[in-house]
Formats: sequence, C-alpha cells, structure tokens
Amino acid sequence: MKVLVVGNGGREHAICWKLKQSPLVEKVYCAPGNAGISAVAELVNIQVSDLGALADFAEKNKIELTVAGPEAPLCDGIVDVFRKRNLRIFGPAKAAAELEGSKEFAKSFMQKYSIPTADAESFTEQNPALDYIRRQFGSGAKGIVVKADGLAAGKGVTVALKEEEALQAVRECFSGAFGSAGAKVLIEECLFGEEASILALTDGETIIPLASSQDHKRLMDNDEGPNTGGMGAYSPAPVVTESLMAEIKRSVLDNFLRGIKEEKLCFRGVIYAGIMVTEKGPKVLEFNVRFGDPETQAVLMRLKSDLADVMVKTSDAMLDKVNLEWYDDPAICVVMASGGYPANYEKGFEIKGLADAESTGAVVFHAGTSLKDGKIVNTGGRVLGVTAKGKDISEAIKNAYRAVEKISWKKTFYRKDIAFRAFERLK
Ligand code: AMP
Ligand code: GLY
Repeated sequence: MKVLVVGNGGREHAICWKLKQSPLVEKVYCAPGNAGISAVAELVNIQVSDLGALADFAEKNKIELTVAGPEAPLCDGIVDVFRKRNLRIFGPAKAAAELEGSKEFAKSFMQKYSIPTADAESFTEQNPALDYIRRQFGSGAKGIVVKADGLAAGKGVTVALKEEEALQAVRECFSGAFGSAGAKVLIEECLFGEEASILALTDGETIIPLASSQDHKRLMDNDEGPNTGGMGAYSPAPVVTESLMAEIKRSVLDNFLRGIKEEKLCFRGVIYAGIMVTEKGPKVLEFNVRFGDPETQAVLMRLKSDLADVMVKTSDAMLDKVNLEWYDDPAICVVMASGGYPANYEKGFEIKGLADAESTGAVVFHAGTSLKDGKIVNTGGRVLGVTAKGKDISEAIKNAYRAVEKISWKKTFYRKDIAFRAFERLK
C-alpha cells in the first residue's frame, strides 16, 4: 500500500523510516518533509495546513493510510476532512484534538473523568488572575504555573517559583504575546517530581500503551536554561516502573478511554500524556493528541511490530487485534540544534559527517534540514535527532554520542547529558 505522512520534523522522519520497513508498504510519501526524509519517502510539496490539497493528493494517488504528525492539522480537522472523503487516516477528529488545542477543555475533561492532574482555575480577565496568584502564594504555594489557553507552539507555559514571575507571566498573556492563545489563562498548582511521557494507541474501544519515554525540555545540561521543543529523549524511562505503569494505565489511560466513549469523541490515533510522577502518584500535566517529538525517535527505534499494520488497525478500529512487540535494548535520541536556538539562529550552513555518523549504526533523523546546491544545510532550530540503541542505557548513550561527534556544522549545539536520569538510576 501507499502511505502519506504529513509534517516535516524529526518525528515524521522516524514515522516514515519505520513505515518504510513494513512489507505492507510499497511507497511512502511525505508532505512537505525535509532533506533527510527524502531518503525514505518521496516528498510532496503541500503544506500541512492545506487540508484540501492533502486529501486531493491522497485520493488521486490511492493512498491507503495517512498519518498526520503535528497537532496543527489535527486541530484544524484533517481527520474529519479525510474521513468525509472515505480516506483512511490515523489520528483524532477535530473535536477530540481539542484535548491538546484547548488546555481548558483538557482540564475539564480530566476533572470530569477523575484523571489525576494539578488543580487549576481559568481566567479571562487579568485582575482576578493576579489576585488569585497573590492568594496562592499568600497561602504557602511553592510555585504557580501560568498557561495561555490554546496552541502556542510549546511556548505559553511559565513555571514560576516566585510570585512576581507568575504575575508577570499573566500580564504577558493578556498583553497578546501569544495571540489568541492568550485570551484565556489557566493558572495551575505547581507539581514537583520527575516527568515521563506516556504514549498510547487508541481506537476509541481499546487502549494500548507504547514503551515509556522521557523528554529533556530544558536547553542546557542539568536541566538548566529555557524550555525548548525538546533537546533529547530516551526510552524506556526507568522512573516508570511496572507498578507505576499499571497505575497510569488504570488512573489515566482507562479513564481517558471512558471519557472518549462517553463524550462520543472519535479518536483513532495516539494519545500522549505528559506525566509528573509526584509523591502523591502520577498526575497529568498535559495531553497531546499526536506522537511526541523527540520521544518518537527513541520509541519507534525500539518497536519490533510492523507500524503500518498497527496504524491501519488503529484507524479501522481494530486495535484489539494488535499485540505490540518491543526490542529490550534502550534507545536514546540526542537533538543537535543550531547555535542560538531557541532564540535567533543562523541557517544555511552545510552539515558534514552525516554518512560517517550513520556508519556507526545510529540513525540520524532530520528535523530542520533542506537541500541547497546538492548539500544538506540547517534550516531549523532543532536540526537532527541522532538516535541509537545499546544493550543497556550506558551503551546506548555511548553509541548515540559517538555518532553525534562525527557531525558538525557552524555553531552546532547539543546537550551532553541526555538520559542522565536513567543513567543515575543505574548507580
Ligand atoms: P505543557 O505545555 O502543559 O505540557 O507544559 C510544558 C511543561 O511545563 C511541562 O512539560 C512541565 O515541564 C511544565 N509544567 C506544566 N504544567 C505544570 C505543573 N502543573 N507543574 C509543574 N510543571 C508543569
Ligand atoms: N516532546 C514534547 C512534545 O512532543 O510535546
């Protein structure tokens, strides 16, 4: 069958790479893709926002499975557009994608279906929000989290340990800094603990967790510096023990599924629960309605099962027929970024050493690259996700960094400590 992947990041490269290995798949297309993706898929020059053109392409080329990588087309209703035209697609319908598109919707869904999460209040006016924050700190809160409601491309969340910082974040939201995503503000209790990413497949009837993983959101080693889209990931996350996973399945995933059914939401795709493992058990920080980036790069490297078969069965509401198999070896993904990211950075530098890096056995997933005069150049903030497995976490770390060290361009930047928490747990 022919498949179409929508998106142009490292996550989409990993999805294309894994689909390409399926004996069921004769051809992979990716719209719009990037330089690295062109090695495993034919690139289609259609932007992710052009839902009509994507559906036309799928129809004309007899695409039997479409997978939308990023949240934007899902929140725009790509699944509804495709299904109306009888085109098979993996992902939630627009109404269900609101679980990521609106933090307020997600919070009330969690509260209604007893999914453990931080206490929160939402505000549409600045002064009551400021007063609320002052009262919280006045009664001993150790921190407050301010979230602009709506998609703010991973920004729009401030974890404030000081009152003034929280007040400032609220003022910023109401100043219009996040566009329409700032008209409503969610103010949350600050949770403390270790984070983990739990992704699960669901077709609305069955829910199957994928291998656990952990992202590294901060820019610099030791989790310092500003939040980013993710500087690296690894799977499995040892913080998610078997018993914790069972608790997450019961308190988060099963309740999620009950909510989807009761609300009659169409969800045939992947749900991503960002979890904080607190002293009082796992709590959901956020839902995403798509694969995580860069978690997917590490997770899919460990998947033994045929992804095309799994995605077709999920899209056709036959997930009960799926039995996922995994490689035991851990995997880690180190993100190589452009110097200056997440602020301004320069683009267009030639990337050298890609073939050498892959000759070590690592896989280099491209996130922000393009071809210029026959050369691969950086075009994004996060540029590559160098991913490798090993028989244990320390070997996986060694393998990934050995490949990273072979790659360079002007002003390369990457964290040197990806998977440090897993490594420390071994000691
Ligand atoms: P979100 O976009 O809601 O996932 O938030 C982005 C990041 O902010 C999360 O991955 C956490 O690191 C942090 N965060 C969000 N909500 C909270 C919370 N209630 N307490 C502590 N940290 C949080
Ligand atoms: N890695 C975080 C995300 O995909 O949202």
